[in-house]
Amino acid sequence: MKKSIITGIGHYVPGNIVSNDDLAKVMDTNDEWIQERTGIKERRHLGKHSGVTTSDLGTKAAEIAIRNAGLTAKDIDFILFATLSPDYYFPGCGVLLQKNLGCDTIGALDVRNQCSGFVYALSTADAYIRSGMYKNVLVVGAENHSFGLDMSTRGRGVSVIFGDGAGAVVVSASDDENSGIISTNMHSEGEFAEELAVQFPGTKLGWSDVMLEEGNTLTPEQIYPYMNGNFVFKHAVTRFPESIREAFENSGESIEDLKLFIPHQANLRISQFVQRQLGLRDDQVFNNIQKYGNTTAASIPIALSEAYAEGRFQKGDLICMTAFGSGFTWGSVLMRW
Ligand code: UT7
Repeated sequence: MKKSIITGIGHYVPGNIVSNDDLAKVMDTNDEWIQERTGIKERRHLGKHSGVTTSDLGTKAAEIAIRNAGLTAKDIDFILFATLSPDYYFPGCGVLLQKNLGCDTIGALDVRNQCSGFVYALSTADAYIRSGMYKNVLVVGAENHSFGLDMSTRGRGVSVIFGDGAGAVVVSASDDENSGIISTNMHSEGEFAEELAVQFPGTKLGWSDVMLEEGNTLTPEQIYPYMNGNFVFKHAVTRFPESIREAFENSGESIEDLKLFIPHQANLRISQFVQRQLGLRDDQVFNNIQKYGNTTAASIPIALSEAYAEGRFQKGDLICMTAFGSGFTWGSVLMRW
């Protein structure tokens, strides 16, 4: 059976750096609070009127990944695009990427799994490759959060955390038994869907009726992202280790041999907690949330791309990528590079 290897990686982040001090100018927050609670020092923001969309960010990252794979857009057989901040309510970003890149009329599937979006998309790509259906699958995670954050003090519990960016990988079929994706897992618990959500636009609120109503009843909590931070944190620190251990179960691999753990960059405190739980050394965990904040579906591919560029792993090394977030959804991908 074919195995899935990553043949190209790329990432792109907007140039506009927003420091914690910059945020403190527009809302009641401060550098100390943000760094102590999250580890974040700065993030990238396109802003509300940049004209740059999520699919634009994804296109830039994808172009780099395809080039690094030594391929052209014509070699891509299928697109998986993960985002929670799509250009349109519908259609999804996948078709826009297909157009922007000039791919053939290949399939383009959008993944709506927020922070776990990239892990879900990569797992799906792996299943397609192993089944023999596709040879080269493009997997993209991209987010333009800054267009829709509440930048007033009311939104500070959420807005200081999120940033914009994109990452992409080309997943290709390989006959090499000693490298590639070893195991994946995906989970969900919809009972907690509203604990981290943007409700609008959505059919539960009536959407167009609500929009058109005189003096409509929409509240900021419905329009802007809502997060029950403590609650999400507690679930994250349980589900992360659970999913990682599951990835290793029956894999024939052991956690001690992990070269690099690349967690979804939700909060530095979550990554450190998970690191302690698994007994990993500092050099076994990659964090870049300090520079980019939480870029949800883009966070793992951006981190993977940076870690690779920094030489943090080489061919044959064991890597685990794990995410947890809105849904709740969570999951892992364990692979040998
Ligand atoms: O990626 C998707 C998954 N997301 C996560 O995993 C996020 C998980 N949760 C978290 O990372 C943390 O819960 C947060 C970083 C979001 C919040 O940290 P916390 O330690 O849970 O703080 P809190 O929400 O309990 O708020 C503590 C205090 C509150 O004030 P009072 O009520 O104690 O007076 C907040 O109003 O901090 C206040 N606060 C802030 N102060 C300054 C909330 N946000 C801010 C802020 N600046 N930005």
